[in-house]
Amino acid sequence: MTTVLNGGLSTLADIRSHAIGLDGVMVGRAAYHRPALLAELEQALIDPSWVIPQPWEIVERVVSYAKVCARRGIRLHSITRHMHGLMAGREGARAWRRFLSDVAARPESVPETLYSALPILNQGIAA
Ligand SMILES: Cc1cc2nc3c(=O)[nH]c(=O)nc-3n(C[C@H](O)[C@H](O)[C@H](O)COP(=O)(O)O)c2cc1C
Repeated sequence: MTTVLNGGLSTLADIRSHAIGLDGVMVGRAAYHRPALLAELEQALIDPSWVIPQPWEIVERVVSYAKVCARRGIRLHSITRHMHGLMAGREGARAWRRFLSDVAARPESVPETLYSALPILNQGIAA
């Protein structure tokens, strides 16, 4: 029988301590609000040599994904409205959230619009 703990885990320490003796844990809201948790888990539990992506790499990947979606008629805002937590805990997190609400949400915004957020992520603006 497979044993999985479902819910209520929000930090790497929580997951480490609760996962002992289990086959897996389900993480929902914590990963949604702070996706970097998944990167931390990858590094801590699966591959210690895995390097947590830099903000510009994350933006690159979001742009690629949004381009595929755009070809299928999906608006940028439908994607980015779920990405407010993407920079959580990093410099520029607040500016990123504001950028998504003010700029990426405009009807005329396209996937490449997200590149204009790179300077705010690299200026050391406090989260
Ligand atoms: C944004 C989000 C997406 C989810 N997607 C799935 C899913 O695709 N399949 C699934 O079995 N459960 C999904 N869940 C449920 C979680 O795996 C899990 O049962 C529950 O959220 C765990 O509680 P937690 O939010 O306290 O971590 C999702 C939960 C959230 C918050």
